[in-house]
Amino acid sequence: MTDRLAVVSGGGTGIGKAIARELAEAGHRVVVIGRRAEVLEAAAEEIGADRTIPVAADLTDPAQVSRVAERIAELGPVDVLVNNAGARITQPTDDSLAALADSWRQDIEVNLMTTVLLTTALTGRLRRPGARLVMISSAAGQRGGAGPHSAGSYAAAKAAVHGWALGLARQLGPEGITVNVLAPGYVADTEIFGESWTPEFHAAKIADTLVGRAGTPADIAAAVGYIASPAAGYLTGQIIGVNGGAVLGR
Ligand SMILES: NC(=O)c1ccc[n+]([C@@H]2O[C@H](COP(=O)([O-])OP(=O)(O)OC[C@H]3O[C@@H](n4cnc5c(N)ncnc54)[C@H](OP(=O)(O)O)[C@@H]3O)[C@@H](O)[C@H]2O)c1
Repeated sequence: MTDRLAVVSGGGTGIGKAIARELAEAGHRVVVIGRRAEVLEAAAEEIGADRTIPVAADLTDPAQVSRVAERIAELGPVDVLVNNAGARITQPTDDSLAALADSWRQDIEVNLMTTVLLTTALTGRLRRPGARLVMISSAAGQRGGAGPHSAGSYAAAKAAVHGWALGLARQLGPEGITVNVLAPGYVADTEIFGESWTPEFHAAKIADTLVGRAGTPADIAAAVGYIASPAAGYLTGQIIGVNGGAVLGR
């Protein structure tokens, strides 16, 4: 059994599951975290129960994150941490400021605080030197995103991950740890769009790209696989778009 350990939040579905598979195939034991135990168990069966460790937790809750960190501490130092858990919160339910505040706070909780809490809880457990930290943000964090399918708070929460991650790269670089952000463009075949997904939305997102197709979870997983590889030791403090050309040059 390999002693390399990876942790993937939101590893039970979509992009996170593809990342967990990629890292397992590259020789890691992979801890997958999400709120739904049965979804994580199914992902572990799919990827390989001998190398996938499901840990059910709500990563917006500090007490649950502490318990996750205790469980991971039993498994050894963390070589790769991928903060992928996130969600697009539906628009405010009415025009009140209270509804707006509720919607913004949920977006910040699930897209920013999950990352901040899990990373902070595991920073002391990262392998030194050599660990790789990856945050999955979004093209929305680079170019904004407000409209019928995307609340502006989602873009703002993802952009906040950028600023925080860059400071962390500066802090952890001298300890031999790289920190990078992957900002995916549109990726089909995940749970994130739920009932808001329509064929028209899909077509518009494809039209936005230069390569004329939707991204796949495997596209994002391949980029994480590179960042986690020995070849990527000189790559840190970057926001890397994987978006089919929907956002250019940054
Ligand atoms: N698909 C796209 O077009 C796209 C584009 C840009 C960025 N992204 C980003 O990519 C990441 C993965 O999204 P996806 O498209 O693969 O969607 P997804 O299938 O909905 O994956 C989100 C994952 O996060 C987990 N999660 C959500 N809230 C959580 C919480 N409070 N605690 C622990 N786990 C939580 C979910 O599991 P549970 O529900 O079981 O907790 C789920 O496994 C997200 O950060 C998303 O913002 C996606």
